[in-house]
Amino acid sequence: MSANTLGSLFRVTNFGESHGPAIGAVVDGCPPGLELSVEDIQLELDRRRPGTSRHVTQRQEADQVEILSGVYEGKTTGAPIALLIRNTDQRSKDYGNLLDTFRPGHADYTYWRKYQHRDPRGGGRSSARLTAPTVAAGAIAKKWLAAEFNTVIRGYMSQLGPIVIPFKSWDDVPNNPFYAADESVVPELEAFMDALRKDGDSIGARIEVVAEGVPAGLGEPIYGRLDADIAYAMMGLNAVKGVEIGDGFESVSQRGSEHGDAILPDGFASNHAGGILGGISSGQDIRVSLAIKPTSSIRIKRPSINQQGEAIEVQTLGRHDPCVGIRATPIAEALLAIVLMDQALRQRAQCGQW
Ligand SMILES: Cc1cc2nc3c(=O)[nH]c(=O)nc-3n(C[C@H](O)[C@H](O)[C@H](O)COP(=O)(O)O)c2cc1C
Repeated sequence: MSANTLGSLFRVTNFGESHGPAIGAVVDGCPPGLELSVEDIQLELDRRRPGTSRHVTQRQEADQVEILSGVYEGKTTGAPIALLIRNTDQRSKDYGNLLDTFRPGHADYTYWRKYQHRDPRGGGRSSARLTAPTVAAGAIAKKWLAAEFNTVIRGYMSQLGPIVIPFKSWDDVPNNPFYAADESVVPELEAFMDALRKDGDSIGARIEVVAEGVPAGLGEPIYGRLDADIAYAMMGLNAVKGVEIGDGFESVSQRGSEHGDAILPDGFASNHAGGILGGISSGQDIRVSLAIKPTSSIRIKRPSINQQGEAIEVQTLGRHDPCVGIRATPIAEALLAIVLMDQALRQRAQCGQW
């Protein structure tokens, strides 16, 4: 299992298992002199944390981060920044009945086929718990990008199952558990989720992430394309089944006269491209959209097999997210921040200035 590092110059290495003593990240390549506190990171972790509303898993993880190295007197030193999050809720009995079986849609089957063992404590490295270190590392990238370019990276949920959530205002996003950018839709979302929970089922979602204040010039024309790096990072997030940049799949039905963003003396007239042309940022907002699948751990019984290949029925009890998309927004923001910071350092290394 060797692919645990993301990035070239800003490198995030993720470690730990969902029910081991701790999880964390080692963040290498952060320039010295960045003001960084535990609170900067904790703020982002608290946005991802489980148990914060009745619409997410009721697992209680404090997700308190400790900075073990790389920061002295409130500033980064240039040394690796080691971030530790101790696991406090290790109730593995939620997973006990799953040990010999495979949840349809989950990683159980492929994990077992690959490694020939199962982690009895809840998914091991395939658990979305390992997205907490990503969020912690992303908080550093967000802070550096804001200090360098005034970059702001924000996300929101634009669809929950059949309910399309229009964008009204960024101000609405932190005021509801769904990250909806229109608070007036929240009662409909709550009613939908309450009925879903009663059914013992789960649902998919769509998340938008936007980076404003990204300088032009990040990315390269072939293998280091910014859009390719973003798609790679986002597809590395559990349960993501699709990534779109700008108009994405809508581009299929568009004409060139509509899709190509006109360039005027005072800037671009539109942003169908999502801020990236030829793999390089244009200076416009970077717009990324994610399709997130419904949670595989549901109470509804479904056919599967056990490790002996015999037919069985699987039902997942215990505490699971009925819509993993609800908690995905801060993680997607973190991933975008990590990619942008890495690309910004690469741009600086090659071209020296903007
Ligand atoms: C924030 C977040 C929370 C998640 N919570 C759960 C959960 O409670 N139960 C579950 O079965 N899957 C959950 N997932 C999804 C699984 O981790 C994921 O579907 C599984 O590892 C299989 O990988 P894949 O969906 O990428 O193929 C969550 C994903 C995210 C991003």
